[in-house]
Amino acid sequence: MSGRVYNFSAGPSMLPLEALERAGAEITNYAGSGMSVMEMSHRSKVFQKIFDDTQAKFRKLMNVPEGYKILFLQTGASGQFSMVPLNLIGKTGKADYAVTGNFSNIAYKEAKKYGQIHLAASSEDKNHTYIPAQSQLDLDPEASYFYYCANNTIYGTEWSYVPDTGAVPLVCDMSSDILSRQVDVSKYGVIFAGAQKNMAPAGLTVVVIREDLAGHELPFTPLMMNYKTMIDKDSMYNTPPCWCIYMLGLVLDWLEEQGGVPGMEKIKHAKAQMLYDTIDSSRLFTCAVQPGSRSDMNVTFRTASEELDAKFVQESVAAGFTNLKGHRSVGGMRASIYNAMPTEGVEKLCDFIRKFDKEN
Ligand SMILES: Cc1ncc(COP(=O)(O)O)c(C=O)c1O
Repeated sequence: MSGRVYNFSAGPSMLPLEALERAGAEITNYAGSGMSVMEMSHRSKVFQKIFDDTQAKFRKLMNVPEGYKILFLQTGASGQFSMVPLNLIGKTGKADYAVTGNFSNIAYKEAKKYGQIHLAASSEDKNHTYIPAQSQLDLDPEASYFYYCANNTIYGTEWSYVPDTGAVPLVCDMSSDILSRQVDVSKYGVIFAGAQKNMAPAGLTVVVIREDLAGHELPFTPLMMNYKTMIDKDSMYNTPPCWCIYMLGLVLDWLEEQGGVPGMEKIKHAKAQMLYDTIDSSRLFTCAVQPGSRSDMNVTFRTASEELDAKFVQESVAAGFTNLKGHRSVGGMRASIYNAMPTEGVEKLCDFIRKFDKEN
């Protein structure tokens, strides 16, 4: 479709064109219902089918085993920073947190309101440019859960391994890399993700929870922040984010066509490798993140000068790329190359980086 740019936004970010076009074609009259999905009762048969199909597609693509529920909530990923401790910390009153960036730090601070929170690992000593190794995790066997963020959107780091915490359940924020790589869900207690990067428009938060972990919330847990409320009503205690759920269904159809998660894993890794190779072999650009901790989703890089960074960003816009400016807290540049970013977009960005490298 003409006029579309390569949008490297960290989120909300690009959605697959096929999904957008399907939504466009169905926007005023969904499947002969005479109305848009946006106008439909969430209790209607038509919507219930959209909901059930989307949940089933997600279960299949993520290989979610029995004993786990998939919830479609409105909390935002940030809402889970409260919901997780409210629901899970009651077991022992204690939890372990790994702080490897901005969002896990917010989650860590939030959790402190509800129990005894132990900093099991931190990468702050090196400005979050690496992921701590398993041997660096200071684990408390009495923790109710161990919390980490799989991919650090701002710093461009990603856990390459699943922490081994023994019997302590893993809780993971997968907001910025969900569905980009294969995950053994059975290793987790709770997985959650805001939709606005790899799944759907903003407004939907997907939670995958081992069912037995729900129902032990702190007594003052707000009704709407209780996993059990949502499990019992299959996410429909109140009005769910209907449009986003519908869009997720379309995105999952597209993902299936890419070979599902294993297919996407190959594609996204090749895209990221191409970009890191281009940065590493340039004269001007460097990536501060240690090899082995580099994110396949958010690639951070910079030159030695802020003026040159600004020039790069400015010229990139003229070349048809948007949102390459790094996060305000980090500076430099960041290319967010989520699932929907076509390989061609990354190839063109690499060409642009090489050209800029030569000319400056
Ligand atoms: C890893 C991660 N967690 C949490 C959030 C916060 O998400 P939300 O805006 O849905 O609360 C973000 C947002 O970018 C994120 O990247």
